[in-house]
Amino acid sequence: MKLVHLKLLILAFCMVMQVSKAEQKITYMWAKTADNCSLTHEFLAMITRVFSDLSIFVESGTLYGQTTKTAAQLFRQVHSVELNSELVKMAQKKFAETSNVFLYHGSSDEVFYEILPKLKSAGKILFWLDAHGFVDNENQKTCNPIIQEFQAIKASGITDAVILIDDLRDFGVSKDYPDVSFLKEALQSINPNYEFYIFGDLGLAFLKDEEKTVSRLIQAMTDAVLYRTFVEDSFKDVLAHADEQERMGVKKLAVQFGRFYTRWAALL
Ligand SMILES: C[S@@+](CC[C@H](N)C(=O)[O-])C[C@H]1O[C@@H](n2cnc3c(N)ncnc32)[C@H](O)[C@@H]1O
Repeated sequence: MKLVHLKLLILAFCMVMQVSKAEQKITYMWAKTADNCSLTHEFLAMITRVFSDLSIFVESGTLYGQTTKTAAQLFRQVHSVELNSELVKMAQKKFAETSNVFLYHGSSDEVFYEILPKLKSAGKILFWLDAHGFVDNENQKTCNPIIQEFQAIKASGITDAVILIDDLRDFGVSKDYPDVSFLKEALQSINPNYEFYIFGDLGLAFLKDEEKTVSRLIQAMTDAVLYRTFVEDSFKDVLAHADEQERMGVKKLAVQFGRFYTRWAALL
C-alpha cells in the first residue's frame, strides 16, 4: 500500500471515530408534546440513536396512548400499563391493529412483577415511568408507584435498562413524590453502576458502562436539582456556551412549568 493510501485510510478511520464519538454525547432538548403529557418523536428518536441497542419500550401510565403510538414506530415491542379501565378500553381500540403494542390493565408495579421476567431476555429495555400525576379514585391507588416500580424492576433481574422518569419538578415537593436523591438510591439498588441525570423535567438513568457523556448543561441541571448546587454565575456561563436547542429547551421549561426553571431561564 502506498503511503498516500495509508494516510487516507487513517484519515477516514479518524473521521468515523469522530462521528461515533459525537453520537455518544447527550445534549438537552425539550422532550414533550404540546399538551406536556407525552414524549415527542424527535426526543425518542434521539434516545434510540444514542442508545442504539434498545428494542423494547415499557411505559407505566398509558393515558391516551400518545407516547405509546410514537414508541411503536421506533421500538420492536411496546408494553404499556394503565390503571384506569376506561383509558385501557380506549387504548385497546386505538391499537387493535398495531401488532407490536401490548396493553395491560392494572397497577404498573403489580403488572411489572408479571411481565418483566418474561421481557428480561427479549431485548434491551427503555422504561418510561410516568404513572403519576393523577389520583386514581376508582381504585384508591397511590398516585405515584415509582418506588414500587423500581422494586419490581429489581426483582425481575433487569439491571441494564435505560430509565426515564417524568415530572422531576414534583419529586421531593408533592405528596407521594420521594426526593430525587432517594430516586437515585433506589436506582442504584437495582444496579450500583447507574448514573442518574436531570434532563430538564425528566430523570434519565443509564449504566456507567454505556460510556455516554452528557453536555455541561445536563450536568449543571443535575448539580442544581440532585446535589442542590446552583451557582448563578457558573449556570449562566454554561447557558452562554449551550447550543440553541438546549437554550430553547430551558426557555420552554420555564414557560411550561415555572418553579425553579424560571430562575434558570432568567440567566439566558
Ligand atoms: C401522566 S399520565 C401518562 C401519560 C403517558 N405516559 C404519555 O406519555 O402520554 C399518567 C397515567 O398514569 C395512570 N396511572 C396512575 N397510577 C397508575 C398506576 N399505579 N399504574 C398504572 N397507571 C397508573 C393514570 O391513570 C394516567 O393515565
